[in-house]
Amino acid sequence: MALFEPSDRRGHDEYISSSDAATRALSVTAVENDFVAGVYEKLSSVYDWIFGPTLHPGRLQALQRMGIREGDRVLEVGVGTGINAALYPRTCSVTGVDLSDSMLEKARERVARKGLTNVRLLQMDAACLTFPDNSFDIVYAPYLVSVVPDPVQVAREMRRVCRPGGRVVILNHFRSSNFLLSRAERLISPFTVHIGFKADLDLPAFLAQADLQPVSIEKVNVPPIWSLVTCIKGARG
Ligand SMILES: C[S@@+](CC[C@H](N)C(=O)[O-])C[C@H]1O[C@@H](n2cnc3c(N)ncnc32)[C@H](O)[C@@H]1O
Repeated sequence: MALFEPSDRRGHDEYISSSDAATRALSVTAVENDFVAGVYEKLSSVYDWIFGPTLHPGRLQALQRMGIREGDRVLEVGVGTGINAALYPRTCSVTGVDLSDSMLEKARERVARKGLTNVRLLQMDAACLTFPDNSFDIVYAPYLVSVVPDPVQVAREMRRVCRPGGRVVILNHFRSSNFLLSRAERLISPFTVHIGFKADLDLPAFLAQADLQPVSIEKVNVPPIWSLVTCIKGARG
């Protein structure tokens, strides 16, 4: 599998162990679930138009990194309008969870329209998954972690429900390593939350605090300001 982007000079060690990464705040912005649910209530009817094609290359690349095999159990956390639902092979079983009623309603319509009998949809908070430990072969969060109040708790839950040896895949925008861009992202983050995401999530801090050791981090989409982070859950959990 491809490892760290050659263009990204930060290597694995820096992502995991940069000085205060284990303790520093991930973002200048804080949100609550009620606020997020309200944002997606308003966005549900236009979501696919605004965030469909522009973010799609990353979704397709994530599918490749998952390496889904026949019979695999896949959990998509923050399934939204079900925009990924038809991308999964019909030979795997997919569980999609989301906080928002109105996004799930769109997902249900899509699943019915496309006749996707391998997909089930549940309302659930990503920070408090109701599945037992080790329930899934692949746990995937596309464009989710920068919209939740506690990204670290969500990542811990994702890892908990993934079986040892399974994949935890996170597709998201994280704060740039470029000084000027990173300042700009911090400045706009309190505003971007109103269209559904924090622009300044700190990837090294997120990985360190969630105790995730990625096997690859790739830049995706155009412009390539989004990261596809693939992790394999170790035997120790
Ligand atoms: C940016 S959308 C991503 C949708 C889809 N995964 C995609 O690829 O476009 C984020 C989704 O996460 C959901 N969400 C936000 N907070 C959540 C939470 N705490 N638990 C579960 N889903 C949540 C939102 O309702 C929304 O549907």
